[in-house]
Amino acid sequence: MAMQNIEKLREIIDREIEQMELASRRPNELYLPVDYVLSNGGKRLRPVLSLLACELFSGNLASAIKPAAAIEVFHNFTLLHDDIMDKADIRRCRPTVHKKWNENTAILSGDAMMVLSYKLIAAAEREILPVLLGVFNRTALEVCEGQQMDMNFETMPVVSEEMYLEMIRLKTSVLIAAALEIGAVCGGAAQKDASLMYQSGLNLGMAFQIQDDLLDLYGDQEKFGKKPGGDVLLNKKTFLLVSAFEKANEQTTMRINELMEKENDPDIKVMEFKKIFDELGIRSLAESRAESFFNKALEKLHATSPASSRKSELMELIKTLMARKS
Ligand code: IPE
Ligand code: IPE
Ligand code: MG
Ligand code: MG
Ligand code: MG
Repeated sequence: MAMQNIEKLREIIDREIEQMELASRRPNELYLPVDYVLSNGGKRLRPVLSLLACELFSGNLASAIKPAAAIEVFHNFTLLHDDIMDKADIRRCRPTVHKKWNENTAILSGDAMMVLSYKLIAAAEREILPVLLGVFNRTALEVCEGQQMDMNFETMPVVSEEMYLEMIRLKTSVLIAAALEIGAVCGGAAQKDASLMYQSGLNLGMAFQIQDDLLDLYGDQEKFGKKPGGDVLLNKKTFLLVSAFEKANEQTTMRINELMEKENDPDIKVMEFKKIFDELGIRSLAESRAESFFNKALEKLHATSPASSRKSELMELIKTLMARKS
């Protein structure tokens, strides 16, 4: 029953995106890649969270649809540019935009998507527009800040767990948090509740990114849709690498440093890192950190004022995410 509603909410978002009629806009060199990325799946997690958050506080979804779509378009814009930055060739089991077309196309189509996301947010109801814009602007800038930290970390030898957590809070969590807060505001939530929804989303986002780090190495390409090992090859300071540094003795630290510095055969580099992570028990450590963030997300949701019977779908979605493979 609950998952059926979630499927319905996904369709509402898909319909909103279809209404943009991207495939028929000209010049199609600009819009076809936008259409490609927006209509090729994706979990639609963030807009579904917005709509569920709205439903938690109101019986009327209508006011949340365009803001939810805005967040999804913004998210997909960040993916276009992120895939250039991360040299990623595959996403959602298909070639990334800069591979299918070229980098300039991915840059400009991404820029257009950012504007399209702002058009959607600007269409929100007048009474809530200033609040939504405030959240959206702050969040969009924070995502850029987190992305820059992620890039800076690639060439830094060591990154502390604290710095890592701040980086993923910015690049990933704030957008998921904003999705929940914006949905709540559209549903007429009081400020205290909207803020609890935001905090729930922050914790959910932290768990989500730690899982993404795990799946990047251990995921099944068919399900996850991205090429495994990409983070290791770029010396990304993922949860796995950061906690390996914290647990490693001197000798293992030297092995890690050598692997990061040396030009290696990619398959061997990935295999060697897996070996080190196995030795240090990093996988289960990451899983349990993700789980504790998930639990905090549930706690914050629990603390909002609506009756808990209204929260079952959001709870169920969060619990489904705990076991995600894609
Ligand atoms: C990918 O997000 C980027 C991260 C923040 C890890 P999703 O895993 O939500 O990507 P799609 O939209 O479902 O493909
Ligand atoms: C996700 O970082 C944060 C973004 C703003 C896109 P990743 O670089 O880990 O995302 P994926 O793994 O490419 O989806
Ligand atoms: Mg990235
Ligand atoms: Mg990436
Ligand atoms: Mg990733």
